[in-house]
Amino acid sequence: MVKWLKDAVFYEIYPQSFFDTNGDGIGDFEGIIEKLDYIKDLGANALWINPCFDSPFMDAGYDVRDYKKTAARYGTNEDLKRLFEEAHQRGIRVLLDLVPGHTSDQHPWFLESKKAEPNEYSGRYVWTTHAFEGIGGHPYISGMSERAGAYMLNFFASQPALNYGWLNRTEHWMSAVDSPEAIATKEAMKDVMRFWLDAGCDGFRVDMADSLVKNDDENKSATASIWADVRKMLDEHYPEAALVSEWSNPYQAINGGKFHMDFYLDHWYNGYNTLLRDYETGGEDNSFFRKGAKNDITRFLDDYLPKYNATKENGYIAMFTCNHDTPRPARTLSQDELKIAYAFIFTMPGVPFLYYGDEIGMKYLDVRTKEGGYQRTGSRTPMQWDHSPNDGFSKGRKEDLYLPVDESENAPVLSDQINDPDSLYTFTKKIIHLRHEYEDLQADADFEVIYGEKEKLPFVYRRGNLILAVNPSDKVQSLHHPVFNCRNIICSINQSEINGDELKMDPSSFLILQ
Ligand code: NOJ
Repeated sequence: MVKWLKDAVFYEIYPQSFFDTNGDGIGDFEGIIEKLDYIKDLGANALWINPCFDSPFMDAGYDVRDYKKTAARYGTNEDLKRLFEEAHQRGIRVLLDLVPGHTSDQHPWFLESKKAEPNEYSGRYVWTTHAFEGIGGHPYISGMSERAGAYMLNFFASQPALNYGWLNRTEHWMSAVDSPEAIATKEAMKDVMRFWLDAGCDGFRVDMADSLVKNDDENKSATASIWADVRKMLDEHYPEAALVSEWSNPYQAINGGKFHMDFYLDHWYNGYNTLLRDYETGGEDNSFFRKGAKNDITRFLDDYLPKYNATKENGYIAMFTCNHDTPRPARTLSQDELKIAYAFIFTMPGVPFLYYGDEIGMKYLDVRTKEGGYQRTGSRTPMQWDHSPNDGFSKGRKEDLYLPVDESENAPVLSDQINDPDSLYTFTKKIIHLRHEYEDLQADADFEVIYGEKEKLPFVYRRGNLILAVNPSDKVQSLHHPVFNCRNIICSINQSEINGDELKMDPSSFLILQ
């Protein structure tokens, strides 16, 4: 296992919206460099930067046109290398975003693949033989190329699927997973990884990591074995590099694919969803961290515990405050509710990720779609640094901004929170620093549920030798348990009392006991 992950706290940067230094209205590498001290001070020691490569930006950069060249709007390859160096000088690692499942339809590989004459790239993507032959059960496009055949899509219409072969082959045009063309695709992606690792990056967040082999079995074992092969390359040649998968199935991703980390994504009905965003079902918001909700932690635990127990020896579940595809948690949770939610997220096992702006509780905005964001766009607006024009994000003209800034009167702004001892920012920083201070709060330390009952509170858990308790409700909650005897409070939100074996917690409270 990569050692630095034990104490890693990631900060996700959507580069478009973080900090613009040249006044063109869009964030850039220089902007990230200028804010590294801020990130370090907050306590994050690793970054995940969304795709920053040459792209027509039909999907915010997840449609890569050149894997080895940065998008000019962010800066040059040299600027990105400087970012790696500046980050490393501050003890911060940098993960780039690898998009292995598809490219842009403007990628030179695809332009070659579309040609009627067979060439080196004919088999790089998934194609049928005839223009009138589709791909049952999968999206495809035909009639757009000189080459006869339909090509498969991996996501939007501009993102043709790269060909890693099919496990269950039912048509003659389906490549085998060990065919020369499928192996060439895998080797091309490993070559891209080596290119950036040699340039100084510390690993990758892997987009749609489960999407490579088509008609895979129910364990996605053929896709997993591609990643296990990638992991072998890393272990041999880049032992400090780390991979985190967008998969949300740690059995497959961590145990099968040998990923160091797997994201616990916000999917309807999964355990993570019940914590912060349980508002799509039944018309009522029953998110665990919402005051006045049913506050039922078992809906999380029933999903999480089996996954955690089955994978903890091999890798880490990565829980996040949010990401660029997910509504900001502040969409429904107040700043006080967020403090308790973050207290939980940053004291759980595995590796936590903080999405830029969540440290100040940036809102989910109602804005028009940008670069294929659609409803995701509301979580991608510019960071609110201060009260200067454009919230300090850019010195450019308002009409040139990548997305509008939050202009509401109560928009959270960093400069208001940074010196306020009661702010969300200050608490977020405190809990992250506490995680660094106590090994028992880090990725590997034991996790055990002490009290986690259906619709009952407080929720009490143990990390190593520490006891943590959460009461997100609007009522006082108390519990008798021998673990509370003779303990001191080392961190708390609102009031809690310990008398012998009784813990009494005020509404909206959290505490850590030593
Ligand atoms: C997942 C990414 O997070 C998302 O933003 C993107 O649109 C799709 N994958 C397609 O690459």
